[in-house]
Amino acid sequence: MAVKICSHYSNKQEQVYMVMGQFKRFIPALFGGLALILLVQAQDQSGFISIDCGLAANLSYSEPTTGIIYISDATYIDTGVSKSIPLEFKDDLQQHVWTLRSFPQGIRNCYSINNIAQGTKYIIRANFFYMNYDGQGNLPEFDLHLGPNLWDTIKIENISLGVIKELIHVPSLNHIQVCLVNTGLGTPFISALELRPINSSLYVTNFGSLSLFLRSDLGSEKGYRYKDDVYDRYWSSLNFNDCKAVSTPLTVNPDYWVPSIVMSTAATPINESAPMEFYVQPTDTNSQFYVYMHFAEVVKLRANESRSFNITVNGELWYDGPISPRYLSTDTVYGPTALTGGKIVFSIFKTGNSTLPPIINAIEIYTVKDLSQSETDQQDVGAITNLKSTYGVERNWHGDPCAPQAYSWEGLNCSYEDYNPPRIISLNLSSSGLTGEISVDISNLVTLQYLDLSNNSLTGSVPEFLTQLKYLRVLNLKQNQLNGSIPAKLIERSEKGSLLLSVDENSNFCGSGSCNNKKKNIVVPIVASVGGLFILSLTVVAILWGLRSRKQQDTTKVAKVDLEPNVQNRSLESIQRQFTYPDLLRITNNFERILGKGGFGTVFHGCIENTQVAVKMLSASSVQGYQQFQAEVKLLMRVHHKNLTTLVGYCYEGTNMGLVYENMANGDLEAHLSGENTNILSWEARLQIAMDAAQGLEYLHHGCKPPIIHRDVKTTNILLNEKFRAKLADFGLSKIFPTDGGTHVSTVVAGTPGYLDPEYYITNWLTEKSDVYSFGVVLLEIITNRPVIERSKERTHISQWVSSMLAKGDIKNIVDPKLDGNYNVNSVWKAVEIAMLCLSPTSSKRPTMDQVVAELKECVETELAQRKDRHEDESKDSFDMININVTTALNPLAR
Ligand SMILES: *[C@@H]1O[C@H](CO)[C@@H](O)[C@H](O)[C@H]1NC(C)=O
Ligand SMILES: *[C@@H]1O[C@H](CO)[C@@H](O)[C@H](O)[C@H]1NC(C)=O
Ligand SMILES: *[C@@H]1O[C@H](CO)[C@@H](O)[C@H](O)[C@H]1NC(C)=O
Ligand SMILES: *[C@@H]1O[C@H](CO)[C@@H](O)[C@H](O)[C@H]1NC(C)=O
Ligand SMILES: *[C@@H]1O[C@H](CO)[C@@H](O)[C@H](O)[C@H]1NC(C)=O
Repeated sequence: MAVKICSHYSNKQEQVYMVMGQFKRFIPALFGGLALILLVQAQDQSGFISIDCGLAANLSYSEPTTGIIYISDATYIDTGVSKSIPLEFKDDLQQHVWTLRSFPQGIRNCYSINNIAQGTKYIIRANFFYMNYDGQGNLPEFDLHLGPNLWDTIKIENISLGVIKELIHVPSLNHIQVCLVNTGLGTPFISALELRPINSSLYVTNFGSLSLFLRSDLGSEKGYRYKDDVYDRYWSSLNFNDCKAVSTPLTVNPDYWVPSIVMSTAATPINESAPMEFYVQPTDTNSQFYVYMHFAEVVKLRANESRSFNITVNGELWYDGPISPRYLSTDTVYGPTALTGGKIVFSIFKTGNSTLPPIINAIEIYTVKDLSQSETDQQDVGAITNLKSTYGVERNWHGDPCAPQAYSWEGLNCSYEDYNPPRIISLNLSSSGLTGEISVDISNLVTLQYLDLSNNSLTGSVPEFLTQLKYLRVLNLKQNQLNGSIPAKLIERSEKGSLLLSVDENSNFCGSGSCNNKKKNIVVPIVASVGGLFILSLTVVAILWGLRSRKQQDTTKVAKVDLEPNVQNRSLESIQRQFTYPDLLRITNNFERILGKGGFGTVFHGCIENTQVAVKMLSASSVQGYQQFQAEVKLLMRVHHKNLTTLVGYCYEGTNMGLVYENMANGDLEAHLSGENTNILSWEARLQIAMDAAQGLEYLHHGCKPPIIHRDVKTTNILLNEKFRAKLADFGLSKIFPTDGGTHVSTVVAGTPGYLDPEYYITNWLTEKSDVYSFGVVLLEIITNRPVIERSKERTHISQWVSSMLAKGDIKNIVDPKLDGNYNVNSVWKAVEIAMLCLSPTSSKRPTMDQVVAELKECVETELAQRKDRHEDESKDSFDMININVTTALNPLAR
């Protein structure tokens, strides 16, 4: 009598391997009392979670055959579609499988079941009754996951047969997720999900959870579940070949809570001397099995009768018996460790002095499931789940965010270390239509290294809590509508190089480290009207415009101004910001060394710890009140840009007012052009300096709201670092010095003769175009290295001089002779062109600084691209065709 259980296992002969353990008999007395208590509790389904998938939202019902209350799955999942099975199948099936939920969309869809009893042992059961619900007749196959772990593969093999998967599992958290994963073999679906808490002393394993393989009531005609089984286990009927049923109408005391009705029938061999044998043969020889056999005597034995038997597994005694089942009492035999190997043959045979053959009432076989992959760290899960709902993220974000790795949420990456909970380390919510403020939940993703929120519509400020993300290496906030200021700590980390911070293309940053690059096509003003005063420059513009067209240059490129890590400022950032006058005395060693004199005061060299600084002592007369001074200075201290000198701190004590700046190793541009310095700045270096200064100005004008107008752009305010990269100094001083309506102050203090915008001079109306004008003057100085105003009687302005030279069409005589011909003529022409545009007498005709930056960038590119064949270019690109009449009426700067 060989009984093969579960015929779908392969018949392939596999190596037989046995682990024999100490087997013990279940001691019924231990749980007798408890069983009754639990019985009562379980009768009212306490702790049951019975979900009818696909049932319309808010519906629930008492299943007619079991009395189990099933509820709709709508509150556990928000994806999938409700379907129901054809009517003809309904008659034969319990109601909870009449409807189902199918998942045509998305790879992974998950049920989240919250508020389960953490640490309680549960039977978790998933029912799949295909029944050709979709009319396709294609039997689907898909994966079933429990949280981050693969539970099983669901393979529907018969249209009219359901598949049921059951786990005995202790959830480590107070929630579980059951996920259906589309593996490309059909649309996943699920009919019902059931959770049943059970006594934790049952089904004990050394390791892992148990997956039901077989649970059968022997000698029975039908199967049972709740209410016969207080735990609602499914008992199927199973009859061995060559066996007959024996039964009792009496109640069998349950043990292992096997229902009395299940225990009241048993199988026994027809041939009384034959053993009962059966085997299991897994395809995977590493499978581990737990087997539970339940015995109870159902026949009242006479005095001369006895029933005793032994059990072997693959020929070895499994239980050191013999077993003589007690009358109407359940004994359970099971192994404390799992059985492993290939084919496992069980044999139950009677002992020599037994008058009756063996019996067996019920059997359960489980395989061990390793479900030990941890869920993602729960703080991370909470944070990302909140983010999902706060922003209404429309992505297939279901189930565990990180695990299993193959199905982690799109847009995030995690760290996986052995069995530790995975952590979210990068989050990309770029271009996701996010609105509102940057959510505080992000700060709970404490291991975040990479955060991309670019190209959304986020508003509000850059929150301080982002500074708590200590592992953050990349923070991309580009293309949003953020405003306010950027937390100083973020800027500090960015400057140290430990954080790559991108904040450009936000509308309203001020006092921050970002730049607002409005991507505009540059529109070069071509002026149609001709009026006496403006003839010269207009003519020049027109000619150069022709040149531009011929070269077909792309004028749409705009330089990006991202914050670049800048090591230089590291120590300064940590220095306190407010200094006393004695502090300044100490820092400057009693104002020992003068670095320069500017419109706003005298600059002294200083040292703070080992860092060099420049201390500017302000001319006392014009400074406003302390409150306003402090407010403005604090704002300026938060203006950070690689092309602006950093304001480190300030002093305000009575008439002693000072500003402390980072020191720039190579002094100011003026000194390098005038020849005080022996090094000659190359044309390339000059272009780069022009570009740097332009970017600093661009930032002040377009990166800040309200814009900051420098008002004193000149070569002495362009400082050079050790690499001859330029930073603008003294920006924003007009904020500290009151200007409104104060014509006296504005003309005397703000602005240096020669650099002053003629329109501003006339109208006294200050716009950022005044800076553009001054920048044009600087650019001409860079090109020509001539004084802004000639020290001759005529006091010729540099722009007049250039105009007159241009009229002669001779570019070489414009360029600083110190360059000795080492330049590309095209890039010089372009630079002159830009400068002359900036010098348009009418401010509206001057380009904006972002246009200037874009044009200068091309200029730099031209220079770099063609510097190899410089000499050829020179001869080729001379402009001998320019020959125009020039009027010298243009002299708005005469004083
Ligand atoms: C499907 O199951 C039914 C009922 O058990 C059976 O009659 C039928 O033969 C099965 N069909 C196939 C294709 O196995
Ligand atoms: C006969 O069975 C009893 C229990 O029913 C057992 O204790 C005894 O050892 C058995 N004797 C033999 C010879 O097997
Ligand atoms: C996640 O890692 C993959 C592979 O390394 C990479 O291609 C992807 O850009 C990363 N995503 C994020 C958001 O960092
Ligand atoms: C972030 O997401 C955007 C938009 O989905 C994508 O273009 C970009 O490549 C992603 N970045 C990374 C690093 O994966
Ligand atoms: C920005 O996001 C929108 C959708 O929100 C998308 O259409 C666009 O391509 C994105 N732009 C970039 C530069 O990624």
